[in-house]
Amino acid sequence: MAEPLLSLKDLRTGYGPTQILQGISLDIREGERLALIGRNGVGKSTLLGSIMGLTTRHGGTVAWRGQGIDGLAPHKRAALGLGLVPQTRDIFRSLTVEENLIAGLRGDATLEEAYALFPRLKERRKNGGGQLSGGEQQMLSVARTLMGRPRLLMLDEPLEGLAPVICDGLMAVFERLAAEGQVTVILVEQHAEMALGFADRGVILEAGRIVHEGPASEVRQDASVLERYLGVGIS
Ligand SMILES: Nc1ncnc2c1ncn2[C@@H]1O[C@H](COP(=O)(O)OP(=O)(O)O)[C@@H](O)[C@H]1O
Ligand SMILES: [Mg+2]
Repeated sequence: MAEPLLSLKDLRTGYGPTQILQGISLDIREGERLALIGRNGVGKSTLLGSIMGLTTRHGGTVAWRGQGIDGLAPHKRAALGLGLVPQTRDIFRSLTVEENLIAGLRGDATLEEAYALFPRLKERRKNGGGQLSGGEQQMLSVARTLMGRPRLLMLDEPLEGLAPVICDGLMAVFERLAAEGQVTVILVEQHAEMALGFADRGVILEAGRIVHEGPASEVRQDASVLERYLGVGIS
């Protein structure tokens, strides 16, 4: 079998002395779409941050194409092809849309690619980041990460607080990126139904551990698992 793109082995991380992840083991194949779900505070953002190198490691390893990357700073991981769109939608509010994108540019990526994906950003290219609506800020945050040409795109609750029509537009973009085989995607979402509808595989986190995983279509139909770990029924 081909080497996984990303391989986590007994990963234990946190913030300073506080350990949050209690031993996460997970392999992700190139081209896979993974939905990472679970209640608030279970460690989803911490897991994405740990893959990116933003947390304190207490033990275990992260490997990228078979090579350990535990010693690498976040920008070095980005250069290898790891991309994170953080839950906080980190954009530069005082820079224009275009300047934000330029700040993320690497390799042969072009602004036109971003604008082709998000025509709205082209219309707004001279506007300051702080003047954008929530949906536009999220588009910019996604587009800026894509300017780094990631092979792994990690999306942390990209739909949070956005209107349904904006959510549909963003999901269509993620669908397009994944379908074109450009990226492997880890999608963290509270909207479990949308996330599992998009993904091949669903992973449920609880208190810093993986408590359930399986084909997304099966997880989606497992009412008792969803009830137990998310406290919701999805129809
Ligand atoms: N920067 C931080 N410093 C200390 N503790 C944090 C920090 N960020 C998150 N935590 C704690 O880590 C735990 C997991 O948080 P998080 O990964 O954000 O959960 P989720 O994304 O699943 O909602 C929570 O108990 C949270 O309070
Ligand atoms: Mg989070």
